[in-house]
Amino acid sequence: MNFMGFSSQISLSLFLVLAIGSVLASSRLLSNEPWMIEKHEKWMNFHGRVYKDNIEKTERFQIFNENVKRIETLNKMNRGFTLGVNAFADLTNEEFRASRTGYKRQSKSNHFDLHLKSKSKSKSKSKSKSFKYENSTGVLASTIDWRKNGAVTSIKNQGECGCCWAFSTVASMEGLNQIKTGKLVSLSEQELVDCDTEFDEGCEGGLMDTAFDFIKSHGGLTTEANYPYKATDGKCNTKRAAVNSVSIHGHENVPANNEKALLAAVAHQPVSVAIEGGGFDFQFYSGGVFKGECGTDLDHAVVVIGYGVEKKDGSKYWLVKNSWGTGWGEKGFMRIKRGDGPKEGLCGIAMDASYPI
Ligand SMILES: *[C@@H]1O[C@H](CO)[C@@H](O)[C@H](O)[C@H]1NC(C)=O
Repeated sequence: MNFMGFSSQISLSLFLVLAIGSVLASSRLLSNEPWMIEKHEKWMNFHGRVYKDNIEKTERFQIFNENVKRIETLNKMNRGFTLGVNAFADLTNEEFRASRTGYKRQSKSNHFDLHLKSKSKSKSKSKSKSFKYENSTGVLASTIDWRKNGAVTSIKNQGECGCCWAFSTVASMEGLNQIKTGKLVSLSEQELVDCDTEFDEGCEGGLMDTAFDFIKSHGGLTTEANYPYKATDGKCNTKRAAVNSVSIHGHENVPANNEKALLAAVAHQPVSVAIEGGGFDFQFYSGGVFKGECGTDLDHAVVVIGYGVEKKDGSKYWLVKNSWGTGWGEKGFMRIKRGDGPKEGLCGIAMDASYPI
């Protein structure tokens, strides 16, 4: 009995030693992979990332480590586009999704549905049936890049605020204004975040259709310079918002799930679109014609500013402007596969497109 007891004590303490050892080893992935630690340190410096303590640093390192390894594995598959270790490299995909997207589909969010129903106006108000480019599908330019026509402001960064919808709305409005007046004026997302609160919810999400409605009824939108972006929800500054710099007559919707119709619209002006932009491939996209994994669960909003064909392999693409800074994608822009896929378009790009008029 004594002997038995003694031996089981030994094996228990042996077990404990092993268990503690393996916990220590996993928290010291650090010392096993110095090149990865160095990569993380360099990345932290480059992005000015500071963690509150070593516990957070270790946690963030683990996420960084996993992301980097997955990016490297995927890049070896030569998918025609690349992923990069960008500013989102220490975020899990869930964290990224929660803080950097923000397109709220009416059918997806109960809260939003209730919110809409409690108002007297119906949500169909913001959907338009008319499509002014319906007969112009035959005579279109083979490629368009609205940047070359001076209709696209420089890349902006929404930061940790889910107001992609405001950036998308503003970008297509900046485009239309430049096309009509010849002047490129950067307009205010913050005015939409702070003041367009009847149907949209600032950093908690919103829709371009309702934002266009707000701008129309408000009589216009002010400039970025007059009402600068703060990346956080705020109280509406009615004085600043009263300086309407650019106005619109309203907006129209591109017929859904029809990339030909989308092309006709983009040939005439930048178009706001919703997209599923929360996936791993999207998070780390760094260049090429995106053909990555994504569905049609629309969670992000961007603006299509052109289309073209990649010379190397003949891939047709949409040219997209995003609001995640210049460190993401092709200096903040993306080329995403166009045509020959499901009618919704890749990542649902043709499902919910609209433009101001
Ligand atoms: C397109 O053409 C049809 C048939 O000619 C016409 O009824 C319709 O009004 C036209 N649409 C626009 C937006 O001009």
